[in-house]
Amino acid sequence: MPVKVSKICCIGAGYVGGPTCAVIALKCPHITVTIVDLNQSRVDAWNSPDFSLPIYEPGLVDVVREARGRNLFFSTDVDKGIEEADLIFVSVNTPTKKSGVGAGFAADLNYVELATRRIATVANSSKIVVEKSTVPCRTAESMRTILEANSKPNCRFDILSNPEFLAEGTAISDLFNPDRVLIGSLETKEGEEACRSLVEVYANWVPQERILSVGLWSSELSKLAANAMLAQRISSINALSAICEATGANIDEVAHAIGYDSRIGPKFLKASVGFGGSCFQKDILNLVYLSESLHLPEVAAYWRQVVEMNEYQKRRFSKRVVDTLFNTITGKRIAVLGFAFKADTGDTRESAAITLIKDFQCERALVNIYDPQVEEAQIWNDLSEASPLIPIESIKKQVTICHSAIEACKNAEAVVIATEWKEFLEIDWEEVYKGMNKPAFVFDGRLLVDAEKLTKIGFKVTTIGRPSAAA
Ligand code: UDX
Ligand code: UDX
Ligand code: ADP
Repeated sequence: MPVKVSKICCIGAGYVGGPTCAVIALKCPHITVTIVDLNQSRVDAWNSPDFSLPIYEPGLVDVVREARGRNLFFSTDVDKGIEEADLIFVSVNTPTKKSGVGAGFAADLNYVELATRRIATVANSSKIVVEKSTVPCRTAESMRTILEANSKPNCRFDILSNPEFLAEGTAISDLFNPDRVLIGSLETKEGEEACRSLVEVYANWVPQERILSVGLWSSELSKLAANAMLAQRISSINALSAICEATGANIDEVAHAIGYDSRIGPKFLKASVGFGGSCFQKDILNLVYLSESLHLPEVAAYWRQVVEMNEYQKRRFSKRVVDTLFNTITGKRIAVLGFAFKADTGDTRESAAITLIKDFQCERALVNIYDPQVEEAQIWNDLSEASPLIPIESIKKQVTICHSAIEACKNAEAVVIATEWKEFLEIDWEEVYKGMNKPAFVFDGRLLVDAEKLTKIGFKVTTIGRPSAAA
């Protein structure tokens, strides 16, 4: 008989574990959900009386407000969380390795391993262990080996893979109404029973036909594959945007036209200055590493090209800025609007803005940055990580963080839109124009603003995937 889950523990209170398990708690009031993390300040933020949560996600506060203290708890007592639960989500970070074998490509599984070992050491009863973090194919196998080698008598561990497909900024609506929930299990009687236990949890709010049960390895690979295919769509449309700029075609029209083919579909076809976020690049590099380890160099090269195209897109954009500003931006002030990797998030991981700003710094421009959501300390942190050899004091001489778009654009030669924040649509562009040096340039890296309207005001507008006005 499948175990009826009544207590869930989630190890890792980050971007994935926090919202996912908060929503499970909200939708399953009969299940006690405890989210544990080693990071005291993160847990304190989750528990803060004024709900200043450690991550910004629309709707998340309402979920936490309703469930916290009822059947949702945040704690640093990892062992107690493990001991009491019948089902444990492992939702720790799996960053790209910075050193050793596979550096720059492979996922660092150290955190997954430490969490798994902790489960084996602490558990006094059988547990269903669910891998939630995105991991390379066959990680569940390693987890199983560790658990079995270290378990106490009478403790069974069943391993499931249940990758998370939420996107940042829409996490809560994605969790409330997922396209699908994917659960991978071993194709044994015990594996299938464990799978049914987790299906029952999701069935509290997700229609049965959207809960897919597959094999463990298919589940692990599907997560990498979904992100790789999504990123590939963006690199494909961005590659086409370069052709548009050179020929006079308009990338928005092209995307619209091809999206009408029901086999292609209209979503995720927005040309941009390049994709960012914690997942796409990491997961593709993981797939590249996996392919190479499996002696499939052609497959590795195919996927690697998606990331290379993305790097090319960012470089191409900053070169276009320099070319348009009469081949030099030395000493010129550039306003960068947006620093997050996309709108509606404060997350900056792999944000294209970081690369652009670094390029502008190398050209010795002065850069003003404004983002409505990203913390100032985060921007300094990202910029100094991007240029490890340059002391932060020198960076601060070149870069200024501003508190509004208008302030950032004051006395600038050019405005660069790097994130598609809605508020940039509502800027008083006439006011911006008055404050800028002339000619005043706008570079729209997100197909956001109305180029015709801005041109009428007097701006010289350059848009991704459209030929330059001068061409
Ligand atoms: C992604 C996947 O969408 C999600 O399913 C997975 O669980 C985690 O990775 P996320 O990284 O939060 O989610 O953001 P997403 O909305 O997918 O955007 C990724 C990047 O692609 C952003 O920089 C975004 O601006 C860019 N993008 C997206 C485009 O440039 N054009 C598009 O049409 C769509
Ligand atoms: C294609 C386009 O579909 C059509 O819109 C365009 O006008 C002409 O080119 P066609 O070449 O007739 O049409 O065949 P299509 O059904 O697209 O298949 C092309 C090839 O892809 C075939 O060899 C098919 O077997 C293969 N294919 C298609 C796959 O291997 N897998 C699939 O999922 C789909
Ligand atoms: P993700 O985007 O995958 O959710 P995050 O970095 O936002 O990644 O969150 C992962 C969280 O997991 C971090 O808050 C980290 O402190 C926590 N963590 C990592 N290892 C452990 C562990 N062994 N026990 C408890 N928490 C852990």
